[in-house]
Amino acid sequence: MNTPRLIQLGHEDPAATRAELIAGLGAPQSALSPKFLYDALGSRLFAAITELPEYYLTRTEAAIFRQYLGEMAEALGPVATLVDLGAGNCEKAARLFAALAVRHYVAVDISADYLRESLDRLQYEHPAMRMLGIGLDFSHTLNLPVEVGAGPRTLFYPGSSIGNFTPHEALIFLRQVHAASQGGNLLIGVDLVKPDAVLVPAYDDALGITAAFNRNLLLHLNRLIDADFDIADWRHIGLFNHAESRIEMHLEALRDCRVSWPGGSRQFSVGERIHSENSCKWRPDDFADLLRQAGFRQVRQWRDERDWFAVFAAFA
Ligand code: AVJ
Repeated sequence: MNTPRLIQLGHEDPAATRAELIAGLGAPQSALSPKFLYDALGSRLFAAITELPEYYLTRTEAAIFRQYLGEMAEALGPVATLVDLGAGNCEKAARLFAALAVRHYVAVDISADYLRESLDRLQYEHPAMRMLGIGLDFSHTLNLPVEVGAGPRTLFYPGSSIGNFTPHEALIFLRQVHAASQGGNLLIGVDLVKPDAVLVPAYDDALGITAAFNRNLLLHLNRLIDADFDIADWRHIGLFNHAESRIEMHLEALRDCRVSWPGGSRQFSVGERIHSENSCKWRPDDFADLLRQAGFRQVRQWRDERDWFAVFAAFA
């Protein structure tokens, strides 16, 4: 039996994080990176979101993989190295191992520590597979270490996490993915444009789990920069911005309030918002074009019967 290998690249720099957060809060239109939604509680709340009746993304994507995994495997051919971007519990990738004949699994996530548990468990189920866990924040730059090995790779980016990037940012990111594939390919899940009546409840559910997920950002901020946000002063907003084709999450002040942290503070007037996430929704043809603009030569796609979600395979 093999043993998973773990490497941590770049340590998060608390001073830089603090400066980024304070700059984001202090901007005329407050905005923060969605990565700060995922502290321990935020990650659990996101897992709960994926179980909600309104949040169709996770189960629709899983159904597409179930239905078309054979066709995908045929298109991709045997996968020597599968690089899982944002692997988390590695569950989605593990469902592909057998069909894609994966020999080397590389899980990438912000913290190598979190990958340890998932990889240990997976290794036990797949003793012959080589497994590598990489702690890396690839949201700014995707730079895979030499330990991943030479030769073509299949990059795996499920869940429509690509939606957190604006189209321009997505193009820059996909160019890096194209380079990182080393002549291989990409398997990516993308959420599609659909009526507001379906989109909006997925990000503003009846149980209030998405509201808790969003408002928990303020508890995380209180710890990260020692701020004094009062959760009761803020409500969750989930809206579809048609001009930008994206869901936006905001936190809106319910009353005038001042938020302080060591060395500074900011006044928020009632109705003022902190922009906490973008989740872009694509038209299938536009996303296929984006993949080609990023350098991929051939693109295939599979969709569910309602055309709510798509999985693309793109070949370098
Ligand atoms: C993890 C970025 C794919 O945009 O649907 C879910 C995050 N935010 N509910 C998404 C999220 C609110 C999710 N992604």
